[in-house]
Amino acid sequence: MRIDILCLFPEMFTSPLNQSIVKRASERELVNVVVHDIRDYAHDRHRTVDDYPYGGGPGMVIKPEPVFEAAESIKDQLNAGEIPVILLSPQGRLLSQSVARELALHPHIMLICGHYEGFDERICEHLATDEISIGDYVLSGGELAAMVLVDAIVRLIPGVLGSECSADSDSHSDGLLEYPQYTRPETYQNWSVPPILLSGNHSEIAQWRRRQSILRTAERRPDLLKKGSLCDEERKWMLEN
Ligand code: ADE
Repeated sequence: MRIDILCLFPEMFTSPLNQSIVKRASERELVNVVVHDIRDYAHDRHRTVDDYPYGGGPGMVIKPEPVFEAAESIKDQLNAGEIPVILLSPQGRLLSQSVARELALHPHIMLICGHYEGFDERICEHLATDEISIGDYVLSGGELAAMVLVDAIVRLIPGVLGSECSADSDSHSDGLLEYPQYTRPETYQNWSVPPILLSGNHSEIAQWRRRQSILRTAERRPDLLKKGSLCDEERKWMLEN
């Protein structure tokens, strides 16, 4: 998969893209993340990318020309045709595991990050094909949001995680929060691992984990259960607890 990121602060990506799972995925050529500086496409020697808003008001607005020219030049160089062009903005649709899953299916996507300012609406209307927010709060720019999105996508690319199924048991992958996990030692400061996990009985362990997932979700995120996929027996069981 190729991910092109257009932004105003490319250096912000240096460390996050060079650590852990994203780094390993890049080294194994499962993903190629390329960061571009929108200022390289500005038209003046001050490399101006923003301007005052028409109609007045606070803040600056990102100009359309450098963003369109950056996106189009990169698409042309790569012969990319129609690819998802995603603006990171607090006004977009909310990022979720299913959105990440949907984006991970594309061989090539482009992310566009603003900073401080909003985008000229013509970028949203005529260049972007999608707009994504990582939550109902405002960041200083889209760069951090793009990093979150890249991380969520890359770990879903087949072959990226050590074991093919490790993303399947993540929180949210089945609409539920993940069950509690334990490792050695068996007892730490008088706190013992639940005995069922030491029993070797795989079907009982799977059942226990499923119950823990449901209980935890009901307690912490009941909103998820409304759309979660519980069978009738599990619903009945949950009401008894
Ligand atoms: N840019 C600023 N705030 C953002 C958010 N919450 N999500 C995505 N991009 C943003």
